[in-house]
Amino acid sequence: MKLIESIEEMQSIAAAARQAGKTIVLVPTMGYLHAGHASLLTEGRKRADILVASIFVNPTQFGAGEDFNTYPRDLERDMRIAEAAGVDYIFAPKASDMYPAGYQTYVNVEELTLPLCGASRPGHFRGVTTVVAKLFNIVMPHLALFGKKDFQQLTVIRRMAADLNMGVQIVGMPIVREADGLAMSSRNAYLSQAERESALCLSRALHSVQDVYRSAERSVETLRKLALGIINAEPSAAIDYVEFYHEATLTEVEQADDHTLVALAVRIGKTRLIDNCVLGEE
Ligand code: PAF
Repeated sequence: MKLIESIEEMQSIAAAARQAGKTIVLVPTMGYLHAGHASLLTEGRKRADILVASIFVNPTQFGAGEDFNTYPRDLERDMRIAEAAGVDYIFAPKASDMYPAGYQTYVNVEELTLPLCGASRPGHFRGVTTVVAKLFNIVMPHLALFGKKDFQQLTVIRRMAADLNMGVQIVGMPIVREADGLAMSSRNAYLSQAERESALCLSRALHSVQDVYRSAERSVETLRKLALGIINAEPSAAIDYVEFYHEATLTEVEQADDHTLVALAVRIGKTRLIDNCVLGEE
């Protein structure tokens, strides 16, 4: 496995690989890798000749007052996890190379970025699509893997790749959970022991909504009340949103069906966590 920090070097490795007829898969990450990332890397390893993992805490997707400075970072540990998963290249550019003085080009996906995290975190998706477009231009992957925990992000990136004819296949991978149900996230590192317990209200709420949906309840009003009740019972939980959307269009629905995305964002103490499920899926 090789660590590459230079954009030019990564680009010339990718160009040479393509020239030699090799396929490239990219797993974009912000590092502090966990089992969710490892599942993307393991899948990526199977899908192409060359597996690239990018590690870059992207400043443009953090708003003022968000956790850019405190976002957990541990490149050495990440390298061990990546190596064990069979990564060929870690691409870890410097922010000053990705966004040099004079930088002024951004990619913006419109409607899909308005609700949910786009409403709570203005500018967030503009930063995500911009950096992912740049990573695609640098690593030149044939396909790229993203976790479904960031469901809206995956939807937005699919739209961008299609709209801008990027020629990159976007693959969404299932959420990986701890044994007790908590969705894996680098931000779980912020939680105290007590907050870690409280954070289970997200997966518990999704689980209950799915159970009641399976017993034939279709009213979103009823399902939402159920989720709100479970989360609000946790004193340290503050709801950002509990939404029922169509999984493809990200527009609100009143009657639930197998394509309904249940999306949650909840603050546990100072930590903002997201989780989701699609009612028709396991
Ligand atoms: O999901 C993430 O970790 C980031 O948003 C991504 C896709 C790596 C872009 O910085």
